[in-house]
Amino acid sequence: MNLVLAILILTARCAASAETDLTPSTGIEIQGHCPGVSEKQGDCSSSTMTISKLIRRLIIMGPPGSGKGTVSGRIQKTYDSFHLSSGDLLRSQIAAKTKEGILAEGFIANGTLVPDDVMVNLILSALKSQELQMSSGSWLLDGFPRTTSQAAALHGSLPADFVINLDVPFDVIIDRVKGRWVHLPSGRVYNEDWNPPKENGKDDVTGEPLTKRDDDKPETVATRLTAYQRQTQPVLDFYRGIDASIVKNFKGSETNVIWPMIKEFLDEKL
Ligand code: AP5
Ligand code: MG
Repeated sequence: MNLVLAILILTARCAASAETDLTPSTGIEIQGHCPGVSEKQGDCSSSTMTISKLIRRLIIMGPPGSGKGTVSGRIQKTYDSFHLSSGDLLRSQIAAKTKEGILAEGFIANGTLVPDDVMVNLILSALKSQELQMSSGSWLLDGFPRTTSQAAALHGSLPADFVINLDVPFDVIIDRVKGRWVHLPSGRVYNEDWNPPKENGKDDVTGEPLTKRDDDKPETVATRLTAYQRQTQPVLDFYRGIDASIVKNFKGSETNVIWPMIKEFLDEKL
């Protein structure tokens, strides 16, 4: 199955599986993710997007488990941005047994990065196809770029306007990931402690069983955090080297504390 076909199928699944989560502590509605690609709840066409004022291309960065997926859900829901998660896209490729999925499976299970050429090809193809459909609005990239080489490829082709960096302490992350449960077909994320499913072990929308991500085992999380420090943190310096004002740092251990600050920033730009 080629990438375009895979994305079309994912987008169709999005329409079928769109969901709404009510975060107990904030009352903010969080939309779940399509696998890799997510858009407005119940409507995956880009024609409904609002016109972005200053940001067309937004990247969200942060260590594994820092809340990129959670915050992306809020951005996508609030501003109608097109959301592309590299991890969700890879997991959907694995489920579909595509050439890229078969290649990526071992790297993900070990907590190491999938080779740059595979990632650049996958993500740039998806973004370019999205850009062709977009006359307005913005896209939000979660999980890419993760190396300076990926950043250079993206910058040479589709330069980002801003990079949001979630600066969350590693000890908080290790605790969070222990409680994470996912609905793999849609990418929806739950947490035993702060965002449990309505029925234990079951996805709120489909009732299908929730699973643990294979790469959430403690030893694999440790490898992912090391890979983040060695290979992904330098990406922030790559962007600061282009223009320090591109990178917006949001520090804290609670998404519900970080989110209002991100929203305040985006309200001016989107
Ligand atoms: P990917 O799927 O991108 O994983 P990741 O970056 O490691 O990040 P996560 O998805 O684990 O966490 P998140 O930041 O989205 O946090 P979440 O919102 O879920 O990548 C997986 C793998 O794919 C990589 O290891 C690599 O092998 C490969 N890959 C992907 N992109 C690649 C690339 N560009 N190049 C090469 N390889 C690539 O939140 C985490 C948990 O915390 C959840 O349980 C959530 O409910 C909970 N939580 C969130 N907010 C709060 C809160 N306020 N309080 C308590 N818990 C909270
Ligand atoms: Mg994620």
